[in-house]
Amino acid sequence: IDPAAVDLLLSRIRDVPDWPEPGVMFKDITPLLRDPEAFGTATELLADVGRDASGVVDVVVGIEARGFILGAPVAQALGAGFVPVRKEGKLPSATSAMSYELEYGQATVEVHKDAIAPGERVLVVDDVLATGGTVRATVDLVRAAGAEAVGVAVLMELGFLNGRERLPDVDVHALLTV
Ligand code: PRP
Repeated sequence: IDPAAVDLLLSRIRDVPDWPEPGVMFKDITPLLRDPEAFGTATELLADVGRDASGVVDVVVGIEARGFILGAPVAQALGAGFVPVRKEGKLPSATSAMSYELEYGQATVEVHKDAIAPGERVLVVDDVLATGGTVRATVDLVRAAGAEAVGVAVLMELGFLNGRERLPDVDVHALLTV
C-alpha cells in the first residue's frame, strides 16, 4: 500500500483511552468517515482486496456495525451485493447463526438464510480485526451457506491480539496494523 495512503488513514483514526472500559485504547474511525478523501481511499483499498482475489466477487459481507459503513461502498465499487452479518436477534427474516468465544462468555452473529447462495464468492469486510472471533464466525457462516470466502478485508488489525491465528484458512488483508 502507498505509504502516503497509510499516513492519511492513520492520521484519521483517533485513539480514545479507557473506552469502552478502563485500560482499553479504542480506535475511533469516525474522523476517517468524516473526511471524504480518507473514506474514499479506505474504500478503494478495501475494494482492491476483492479485485486481487482473481475472479468476480458476488457478495460483500459487512459485519455490524462499522463493517456496514465500510462494506457497503466496497460492494458498490466491486459491483457486488451487500449482505449484513448482525448480532443476534436483529435480522427480521429466517437466519443462520454462529457463536464464538469472547474473553468472558460468548457472542452470536447471524445472517439471513437466503442472503448467500451456494457457490457464490464472498469478501468479508470489517473495521477492526481484534481477537478474530467475529470474523471467524462470519467466515464459518459464509461456508455453512456453501459459498466461498475469497478474502477478508479490514481497515485495521490489532496485531498484538493475534486474531490471524484463528483464521489460518482464509486470506486476511489489513490496510493498517497497529
Ligand atoms: C468490534 C469490531 C469488530 C469486532 C472485532 O465490533 O468492529 O466487528 O469488534 O473483535 P474481535 O476480532 O475480537 O472479534 P463490536 O463488537 O465493538 O460491535 P459494534 O461495531 O456493533 O460496536
